[in-house]
Amino acid sequence: MILLLGGTGEARRLAGRLHDVGVPVVSSLAGDVAELRLPVGEVRIGGFGGVPGLVDYLGAARIDGVIDATHPFAAGITANAAAACQAVGTPLLRLSRPGWSGRPDAGDWSWVEDLSQARQVAGSLGRRLFLTTGRQGIGQFLEWSDRYVLVRAVDPPTLELPGSWELLLARGPFSVEAEQELMTSRGIEVLVTKDSGGSATVTKLDAAAHVGVRVVIVRRPKVPAGVEVVDSIDAALRWALAP
Ligand SMILES: NC(=O)c1ccc[n+]([C@@H]2O[C@H](COP(=O)([O-])OP(=O)(O)OC[C@H]3O[C@@H](n4cnc5c(N)ncnc54)[C@H](OP(=O)(O)O)[C@@H]3O)[C@@H](O)[C@H]2O)c1
Repeated sequence: MILLLGGTGEARRLAGRLHDVGVPVVSSLAGDVAELRLPVGEVRIGGFGGVPGLVDYLGAARIDGVIDATHPFAAGITANAAAACQAVGTPLLRLSRPGWSGRPDAGDWSWVEDLSQARQVAGSLGRRLFLTTGRQGIGQFLEWSDRYVLVRAVDPPTLELPGSWELLLARGPFSVEAEQELMTSRGIEVLVTKDSGGSATVTKLDAAAHVGVRVVIVRRPKVPAGVEVVDSIDAALRWALAP
């Protein structure tokens, strides 16, 4: 029985592939998105209760292996999975889609370590900003209440946004043309984003290059030491099928 930590498109697709080849899998979702897109097969929803809760779950559900296919920036659950699996000797694989650092234009972007640094750097580059860093980190940017900030998120932020900001609720994929139109119509100067990777939302980077918008991008958190990492669904499937 595989525990598949999800909340991403890759996890959902991998659940389908595992199901197709007859590998028993339970997908786990944090459940903090209003409109959950459920994978096929068994699903459990909600946190485990930290490392101790996850350790208990691994034993109670007789889990043989864990695939952590959570978002590359979901560092909390990734750290918990590493600690819990190490504690009970359960094999663990991290599936993390390739990031965008290998793109030819990645050298033109301002790479930062976290959202706080993103605020400092982006704040010095322009006064009309496009924030696509996810609703959870928005509080880091609230001091920009004197600027125009376009926030795009899948679900509404829980914080009240300054009056000069605009909120756009949308889920990708977005076309390059639509992204360009969005940036030019709002007079965007700086795009602030995270190195999430994937194809569904990469178009904002293509659009930024076309229309001359500066990019400030947060580096991925490091995967805990000793955890095996793959970047494709095929590789994760091979791992699950290995004897
Ligand atoms: N961070 C992002 O930018 C982002 C973007 C898109 C989707 N997501 C998805 O949204 C979920 C939450 O992300 P996050 O960044 O808030 O996570 P996080 O900070 O790494 O995790 C916070 C807590 O949420 C619970 N949790 C997270 N993922 C879970 C899962 N798949 N199944 C069960 N519990 C989970 C765990 O609670 P307990 O300690 O109680 O077990 C974890 O300690 C993840 O599943 C991730 O794949 C995240």
